[in-house]
Amino acid sequence: MANLAINGGTPVRTEAYPSWPTFDDSDLKTFEEIYRSGVWGTNGSKVPEFEERFAQFQGVKYGICVNSGTAALYVALKAAGVGLGDEVITTPYTFQATVVSILMANGTPVFVDTLPDGFNIDPSKIEAAITPRTKAVLPVHIAGYPADMDGILEVTKRNNLVVVEDCAQAHGAEWRNRGVGGWGHLGCFSFQSSKNLCAGEGGIVLTNDRKLYERAWAIHNCGRAPSDSEFEVEAFGGNFRMTEWQGGLLLSRLERLDGEVNLRNANMRALDAGLGEIPGIKVVPLDSRATRGGCHGYKAIFDPEEFEGISRETFIKAMSAEGIPMRHWYTTPMYRESFMESELLSAKPDYSKVSCPETEKLCKNGLALSQSILMGTEEDMADIVTAATKIRRYVGELNS
Ligand SMILES: Cc1ncc(COP(=O)(O)O)c(C=O)c1O
Repeated sequence: MANLAINGGTPVRTEAYPSWPTFDDSDLKTFEEIYRSGVWGTNGSKVPEFEERFAQFQGVKYGICVNSGTAALYVALKAAGVGLGDEVITTPYTFQATVVSILMANGTPVFVDTLPDGFNIDPSKIEAAITPRTKAVLPVHIAGYPADMDGILEVTKRNNLVVVEDCAQAHGAEWRNRGVGGWGHLGCFSFQSSKNLCAGEGGIVLTNDRKLYERAWAIHNCGRAPSDSEFEVEAFGGNFRMTEWQGGLLLSRLERLDGEVNLRNANMRALDAGLGEIPGIKVVPLDSRATRGGCHGYKAIFDPEEFEGISRETFIKAMSAEGIPMRHWYTTPMYRESFMESELLSAKPDYSKVSCPETEKLCKNGLALSQSILMGTEEDMADIVTAATKIRRYVGELNS
């Protein structure tokens, strides 16, 4: 008789995991207030209040709300002076928007591999990628795992490079007890629907530098200065503004964020402890200097050899059958995406020659659970460990 649910055995669980976003009627009050004010776009109070409160939450001085995380990265790169032909060093293991924003700013993406058995850019490999055209480094705190900001700042300061942090997946994440987004010159967050703080769409640029703040402000608002009337244009810029609807919703949801981040961190540690006991599943705890994860989902690395030759896809299917909605993660290093043929590139680097072996391994073997699962109970986490343990025990029932 089969034991594994994929072969007709009894699944570990049948109840659904928490979905996202969670919400209640408290947000409705905010919408009614905005609706009745008649101020739905510029000159409202919700967006400026949220800019101040979110910047404070991350421990950074200034915030500029924009209409997406992609816009935040674009505005930050332009504020940092990235232009035609400037090289921007980044990680190939990320969402496409990181790289697309560099292309939109007319920059040239240069890829540096991720850490062995880690998810973020390897600072020890950055120096070798620097050329006279390098303008900036764009680390990504992928899935809320803070990148090694000590290593990144050491090399970027020595080489006088700008640092733009992609924090789209890292709300509440901390490196050495200080929020991400304020370690580099500029930090960029997304509030798109799936994100741990969300408003459907939206983003924010954070900075501690007044001059960069003013430049980014102009770029996000048609080239105006904060004090200008709507008819004066002082600099290059477009309309990347956020609406009051988003500002109001984000203000209300920010109240819950701290508790939610702590819950996800506790659940992530429980999964690390449980799954870390299973041969063939490599858990990746936070760097010891990362005092809090953003936890945009739970991630681990599958090792087919250690798992008796079973493929990642077979393992994922077996987990799903047990009632655990496990998924793979990014499957293609950014240098192999077709959009890297972009006509926006001033000189086309030969990306077919780029190879980042650690990222290639991650693309083959990354495992993921969505962030809403980390909003579950201790029992919900225990079921995940039970299902993986069961599959390991009865692995003989599976064909690779
Ligand atoms: C790492 C990363 N950077 C940038 C973005 C872009 O954010 P948005 O979708 O709000 O434009 C995302 C969104 O998924 C992301 O995951």
